[in-house]
Amino acid sequence: MKITIGADHGGRKLKDAIVRHLEEKGITMTDIGTYSDESVDFPSYAEEVSERVIRGEADLGILCCGTGIGMSIAANKIPGIRAAVVSDCFSAQATREHNNSNVLCLGERVIGEGLALRIVDTWLEAEFLGGRHKRRLDLLEKLEQK
Ligand code: RB5
Repeated sequence: MKITIGADHGGRKLKDAIVRHLEEKGITMTDIGTYSDESVDFPSYAEEVSERVIRGEADLGILCCGTGIGMSIAANKIPGIRAAVVSDCFSAQATREHNNSNVLCLGERVIGEGLALRIVDTWLEAEFLGGRHKRRLDLLEKLEQK
């Protein structure tokens, strides 16, 4: 499984912790930055990660900012992206099983590192259930075309 990850300055430390965590597990990562505390604009990072997912260069994307919210708003503007801001393990599992989310957004200022890493693991291990949920994703695709 290939993961692309990105963050703005508000999520950079959490992003770095996730990179270390996933590398220790042997998961292939591409870290597109940011790499310092200098203030940057989150939409550019959301766009880069999302487009890599859409082009098939990554199976899934992870985005970190202060809240996770700005990143999710930006990523969900890219057709084909289903980005979810998650702060608990139940939602992490449900958003893969029901929404087939392909981008996970996390807020460094909202949750601690331990919970964030548990959420990432839960999200990566869960699988889309298909069935009635597929019909709903098809309806989401129709909304994108409006
Ligand atoms: C940056 O200060 C902050 O606004 C950003 O990280 C994010 O929380 C936006 O949604």
